[in-house]
Amino acid sequence: MKRTNYIIANWKMNGSEKSISLIKSIQIHIAKQNIHSAKVIICPPFTSLSYLIKKSSNLIKFGAQDVHYEYSGAFTGSISSPMLKEIGVKYVIIGHSERRQYHKETVLELNTKINSALSKNLKVIFCIGEKLNEITKRSSILKKQLSSLPNSFTSKNIIIAYEPVWAIGTGKTPTVNEINGIHKSIRRMINQKIGSESSKISILYGGSVGPHNARNILELSDVDGALVGGASLKSKDFCKIIDSSI
Ligand code: PGA
Repeated sequence: MKRTNYIIANWKMNGSEKSISLIKSIQIHIAKQNIHSAKVIICPPFTSLSYLIKKSSNLIKFGAQDVHYEYSGAFTGSISSPMLKEIGVKYVIIGHSERRQYHKETVLELNTKINSALSKNLKVIFCIGEKLNEITKRSSILKKQLSSLPNSFTSKNIIIAYEPVWAIGTGKTPTVNEINGIHKSIRRMINQKIGSESSKISILYGGSVGPHNARNILELSDVDGALVGGASLKSKDFCKIIDSSI
């Protein structure tokens, strides 16, 4: 089954309008290498999204790092799906482990966020992953996290990113065999929900992906791209990761 490959940059709380220079150099690289093997998506902070979208070509698509579950109202500091839609955002990360940890996002709240994003035709990059002390019960943790997804979804509106929390920003990763095995078991879990459509869902790996290990991870049969944090902030490293998807 041929699935879409995504290389997604999660800038977290980094970058600004000045980061247009980083985006331009990635664009030039994609154009020069004529890269069609992966869709490249950048997720900057809310404050620079609109500016960066206006200044970029369509070789790169943009995503937000979070969204509120309501469309509008008394939710100080929050941003809604219609607001993202209005400025040309196409994707949104939901359920990143840092949001789960620091903002106490629950399975139920994440379900409402996903529904809000889908109702505005934003494509959801839904993150799941176990903590270090949960490795032995990984399967039940992932199953519970996946229960935030609606009963019916397709490869057109959902991307899954498997990110073991203990691998994020630590330089540690599971072995390539472990990664492929876990991705296969995630696909089996979503098969119980959406049947054969599960074979079309892109499942990305995230957590300490860099230029040194990207090729070994991206060539795995059940890995359909990468969600990249730290290494997405340096043009050279990120371009190397994009090249590894070819
Ligand atoms: P990292 O972050 O690549 O810096 O480990 C990944 C993520 O948090 O999405």
